[in-house]
Amino acid sequence: MSEKAILKVKGKEIELDVIEGTEQEVAVDISKLRGQSGVITIDPGYKNTGATKSAITFLNGELGILRYRGYTIEELAEKASFLEVAWLLIGGELPTKRQLNKLEKDIKNNQIVHERMKKIVEEFPSTAHPMGVLASMVSALTAFHPTTLNPNNDNKEDYLNMVKLLAKLPTLAAWTFRKNIGRPINYPNPKLDYTSNFLYMMNSCPNSDYKADPIVAKALNVLLILHADHEQNCSTSTVRIVGSSNASMYASVSAGIGALWGPLHGGANQAVIEMLEAIKADGGDAGKYIAKAKDKEDPFRLMGFGHRVYKNFDPRATILKKYADDVLKALGIQDPILEIAKSLEETALNDQYFIDRKLFPNVDFYSGIIYRALGIPTDMFTVMFALGRLPGWIAQWKEMRANHEPIGRPRQVYTGYTERGFVEMDGRKE
Ligand code: ACO
Repeated sequence: MSEKAILKVKGKEIELDVIEGTEQEVAVDISKLRGQSGVITIDPGYKNTGATKSAITFLNGELGILRYRGYTIEELAEKASFLEVAWLLIGGELPTKRQLNKLEKDIKNNQIVHERMKKIVEEFPSTAHPMGVLASMVSALTAFHPTTLNPNNDNKEDYLNMVKLLAKLPTLAAWTFRKNIGRPINYPNPKLDYTSNFLYMMNSCPNSDYKADPIVAKALNVLLILHADHEQNCSTSTVRIVGSSNASMYASVSAGIGALWGPLHGGANQAVIEMLEAIKADGGDAGKYIAKAKDKEDPFRLMGFGHRVYKNFDPRATILKKYADDVLKALGIQDPILEIAKSLEETALNDQYFIDRKLFPNVDFYSGIIYRALGIPTDMFTVMFALGRLPGWIAQWKEMRANHEPIGRPRQVYTGYTERGFVEMDGRKE
C-alpha cells in the first residue's frame, strides 16, 4: 500500500507508512517515528498496538472469527487432532500422514522426564499451585537439556526442542497433580495417544487397567485445540518478548506459563468455578453477583465474561457452550454449578451494563465447567490451558526469531520528579 498517514505534532508534519495485512487490517507504521521527530506513542496495555506482523493466527473480534493458518477453529475442533494442530501452527501447513506419524513417534520417545526432575517435583510442598510448579519445572528442563540455551535458528534443533516440550509438559503436569493429591506418580504409556496418555498419567492407579473414557479423551482434544493459539495475547506476547532477548525456547515458555497464570488471563477458568462455588454457597442468587459486578465501588468482576478483543462473541465459547451440554449429558453428570452458570449467563446477556460494554462469556466460562465434568481438579484448569497453548507459544517464538525481530523494549512517558538534590538524613521530615 503506497498510502501515507500524516501526523501533525508540535507544529511538525510527519509522514508515516501505512501497511495492510492479508485480511485488510490497516496499520500505521510508527517504527521510525521517534527517529524522525523525537515523539513516541503511548498505549497502556497495548490495546491499539500491533507488536508484530504474524502469519499464524487471524482473529476478528467484531465478527467472532478465529483461524489458525487460514483454517477455521470450528473445522479444526471438529476434524483435527491436537498434534495435527500443533504441527500446523508451528510448521505452517497441515502434516502429511508420514509427518504426523513421525511427530507422534518422536513425542512418545521423549515423554520420560529425568528422574532428578521427579525428585524436584517431589520436593515442592503439596500446597504449591501447579502453575508455579510447572513454570519452575519447564525452566529446570534447561539444566537437563543444556544445548537449548543458545538458540541459533537451527530447524533440526528447534524441532527436537518442540518435541521435548510437547512430550514432557503433560508428564510434568500429571506428576505435579499426583504429588499434590499424595498419590504415586505414573510414568507415560507409549501405547496411548497424546490425550489418553495424559489422562492415564493423571488418573491411573499403579497396576490398574485404567482406560480413558473416549468421550473424555475427545473432549480434551477439543479443549486443547481451542486453546492452542490466540495471536498476541498476554502470555504469547510474554513468550515473544522473553525470546527476543535470545533466551531459549524453554525459558520463554516458562515465562509464558507465569503470564498465563493470572486470573485476568488463563487463570480465569479456575476463577470461574471458584466464583460459581461461592455463589452456590451464598444461596445461588446470580442476580446478587450481577449487581456486584456492575457496582463500581465493588472490585468484583464476573469471571469468564469480557474479552480484550472479542466484542461480539468468542467463537471458542460458542463451540464449548454446545460441547459442555453434550459432554455432561454423555457422562451422565448433573452439576448444580452448571445451572448457576446458565442463570448467570442469561441474566448478564440481557442486562444493559453487559450489553453496552459488549461483555459476553469467553472461552474460560465454559472450559472450567467441562474440565470439572472431566474430573480435573480446579487448580489444574490453568495447567490444562498451558498444555493447549504450548504449540502457539512455540510457533510464535519461532516466527519472532525467523523474522529477526529486535529485542522487545518499549519506551515510556516519564511522570516522576525532575532532578532534585539529595537530602541528608538529619534534614528529612518524619
Ligand atoms: N465484569 C464486570 N465488568 C467488566 C468485566 C467483567 N468481567 N469485564 C470488563 N468489565 C467492564 C469494566 O469495568 C469496564 O467498565 P467501564 O467502561 O464502565 O469502566 C469495561 O467493562 C471495559 O473493561 P476493561 O477492563 O477496560 O476491558 P479490557 O479489554 O481491558 O479487559 C478482560 C478484558 C481483562 C478480559 C476483562 O473483561 C476481565 O477482567 N474479564 C474477567 C476475567 C476473564 O474472564 N478473563 C479471561 C479472558 S479470556 C482469556 O484470557 C483466555
